[in-house]
Amino acid sequence: MPHSVHDEPTAMDIVRDNNMEGKLLGKWAVITGSSSVTGIEIVRALAATGLRLILPVPNQAKAIVTLGDAYNPNRIEFVTIDHTSLDSVREAAKHIVSKTEKISLLVCNETVTPSPDLQLTKDGFEMQFATNHLSHFLLFQLLKPELLAASRPRFQSRVIIVACAEHNRHGLNERGNYNFEKRGYDSAIAYAQSKTANVYMANEIERRYGSRGLHALSIDSAQITVGAAQQTGGESLRLDLQSEARSKSCSRGTPTIIRGAIGREWEGKGGRYLSHCAGAPSKNSEEDLHGTTCAKHTYSPADEARLWEDSLEMIGLLDDQ
Ligand SMILES: NC(=O)c1ccc[n+]([C@@H]2O[C@H](COP(=O)([O-])OP(=O)(O)OC[C@H]3O[C@@H](n4cnc5c(N)ncnc54)[C@H](OP(=O)(O)O)[C@@H]3O)[C@@H](O)[C@H]2O)c1
Repeated sequence: MPHSVHDEPTAMDIVRDNNMEGKLLGKWAVITGSSSVTGIEIVRALAATGLRLILPVPNQAKAIVTLGDAYNPNRIEFVTIDHTSLDSVREAAKHIVSKTEKISLLVCNETVTPSPDLQLTKDGFEMQFATNHLSHFLLFQLLKPELLAASRPRFQSRVIIVACAEHNRHGLNERGNYNFEKRGYDSAIAYAQSKTANVYMANEIERRYGSRGLHALSIDSAQITVGAAQQTGGESLRLDLQSEARSKSCSRGTPTIIRGAIGREWEGKGGRYLSHCAGAPSKNSEEDLHGTTCAKHTYSPADEARLWEDSLEMIGLLDDQ
């Protein structure tokens, strides 16, 4: 169906096309990074579905200002979080589960502003790996009972992990080198590793919990903004993102996230990396119209399992399977 400018759907178009306006009343969602350019669009679209939103943010007063007219106090609650600290994530998770026993949707969108030099969090992990991946991995583990409890045949629970086409640049470092212990640090490579970790986390969630009604997708949310494109410190990434083929306004960067989060075609499904509102094609495929493809390493069950095991050890949790 034709939509708006340039015939591309907006996030709100996806909500309307799926006939989801007001359809998720009574259900809860948690969205990280909600005060980012992407986050504001996600909040606006998901609020229109009737979902009650819990937004973990570093600064609630600032978030209200940033959200602007997307802030609806009747639909939105905040909890404080600092993704650079695993203790803060544990504290935030405690507050979230004190508000609701059932969570139908978790959107992991937060990203940190990296420095060009190696920085470790106070827990001792490389900053981008720690914030983009580990903090979300811990948050997922702590909210998993509520996600499983919320799953219903008509709307099975979903985890949406906002990744990036930049994950194509680099897979996971080897065991013992996630924090660049063995080689020189490169901020753009560290970003790519953290985004590959996002993809792997979604793939592994699907493998482990899909049959229990908890599904996960990872999503390329490329757009031209002041956000991640400027943060990686990688000039080539900046140029990549500014190329005409990748040029999308914010409202056209988020539809894929919203489609994964509430779209009917993804009901009861997961384990895919999405780009441009669909499963991303393989590299060099004729479908590769936008330069946003899967890498050879986008699906790698062995590395997905390794990351899961190592991440559990890093956050100090035991496997539940
Ligand atoms: N922008 C792009 O072109 C692009 C392309 C592909 C993928 N992506 C992905 O899309 C997602 C959003 O990116 P974006 O560029 O829209 O983000 P952004 O504008 O840089 O915003 C980052 C968000 O994370 C929050 N945040 C930062 N540090 C935090 C911390 N220590 N604790 C808690 N929250 C923290 C920020 O909150 P405050 O504002 O309050 O600090 C903000 O809400 C990311 O996963 C990114 O990798 C972006």
